[in-house]
Amino acid sequence: MKLPRNTGFVTVDLLALATNPNYFKDLPATSGSEPAIRLLSYDDTFKNDILGPSATARKAADLSWEAFHEAGIYNRETNSIYATSNYQDLNDNINITVISLEDYSITSTQFPDLWEANGGTSWYPPGSDYSGAPPAQLYCDEGDFDHYSALISVDVVKNTSTTILNSYYGRNFSSLNDVRQHPKTYDLWFTDAAYGFYQDFRPVPTIPQMVYRFDPSTGELAVVADGFDQPNGLELSPDGLTLYVTDTGAQHFTANTTRPATTYAYDIVDQKRLENRRIFAYADIGLPDGIHTDTKGNVWAAAGDGVHVWSPEGKLLGKIWIGETSNNFAFIPGGVLVFSNYRLWLVEGINAQGREICKDFGKGEGC
Ligand SMILES: *[C@@H]1O[C@H](CO)[C@@H](O)[C@H](O)[C@H]1NC(C)=O
Ligand SMILES: *[C@@H]1O[C@H](CO)[C@@H](O)[C@H](O)[C@H]1NC(C)=O
Ligand SMILES: *[C@@H]1O[C@H](CO)[C@@H](O)[C@H](O)[C@H]1NC(C)=O
Ligand SMILES: *[C@@H]1O[C@H](CO)[C@@H](O)[C@H](O)[C@H]1NC(C)=O
Repeated sequence: MKLPRNTGFVTVDLLALATNPNYFKDLPATSGSEPAIRLLSYDDTFKNDILGPSATARKAADLSWEAFHEAGIYNRETNSIYATSNYQDLNDNINITVISLEDYSITSTQFPDLWEANGGTSWYPPGSDYSGAPPAQLYCDEGDFDHYSALISVDVVKNTSTTILNSYYGRNFSSLNDVRQHPKTYDLWFTDAAYGFYQDFRPVPTIPQMVYRFDPSTGELAVVADGFDQPNGLELSPDGLTLYVTDTGAQHFTANTTRPATTYAYDIVDQKRLENRRIFAYADIGLPDGIHTDTKGNVWAAAGDGVHVWSPEGKLLGKIWIGETSNNFAFIPGGVLVFSNYRLWLVEGINAQGREICKDFGKGEGC
């Protein structure tokens, strides 16, 4: 099937926006009635360097159910990206959506003992050969009324799963949300939010919403940050010196836009601890959810109208605009797949390379 392509960038005039609150919604590019994808340049580097002038964008799938929500984990053997679908009800586990990179065909599956999967990452379990394709995927299982919230490792080819962690020294987590593996220590850094409770499939939280570091080879587990409303996405800078954590507190049972929709940055000290918490950026619409860096250190976050891209200094450079909420996205070589629940979007021919492309795909810068 040949899908229509939209090419061309739209330049956002920041000085016009500064004195006209309706400027953005009145742009011809953003005022259509159908969902559409646009490349909005807030700074010339977005068009010229980060995406590059030959980038093209299109819709890749539009389904009748919410297949494209979180995660977005590559597996080299199947040449597919694995996304988690959106929660529906307790009668059915959250599906895993398999997006083939051969032809962008979509299938859905479930894995054993994985109940309400949310964020995830490819990872090297202890004892693996830490070069080559990561042998497993690690999902944050939010849990439900009968099952612990847990980190679950899945071999997607063998269709097997293993519980890696399901409590803080016996205390239940609330709803684990997202996880990254440190590229040098192989520790797992993850967030615990309360969305299972807010979506009525988890009990009332019994522990604060915090960020943790876990050494899967020894079992050492530590809280590394608190003070959040809802810690959600997290990501390292490519040099391993900064940790970004999004706070999506603007959404509980309902939305309240006076609460955080904010990305915080920390210094990672001795590869183990966090210091110097500071505001990195505030999303102008919705909330920054899933977050990934590129190899140049730009910070990309899924938010209320698409993917927002900031420089390492926190300057908004551009948006992959889709006019509806995106919860996450996945870098592929030369491109990015953007998830917006019912829909999947594709930007191709870009210059930027995701931080983990070399690890996951075995090609690109750094390999
Ligand atoms: C799982 O996927 C099927 C399509 O393959 C869809 O009909 C169903 O609604 C999905 N279930 C959930 C819980 O997302
Ligand atoms: C993997 O196992 C689950 C059950 O845990 C099953 O529902 C699913 O169909 C299996 N997938 C494959 C490809 O066999
Ligand atoms: C912890 O979660 C397990 C699994 O859902 C549950 O059986 C147990 O009662 C919970 N413990 C507390 C103290 O809530
Ligand atoms: C929104 O949240 C703020 C801060 O927590 C609170 O003061 C305010 O009452 C809330 N507004 C509504 C409409 O719930």
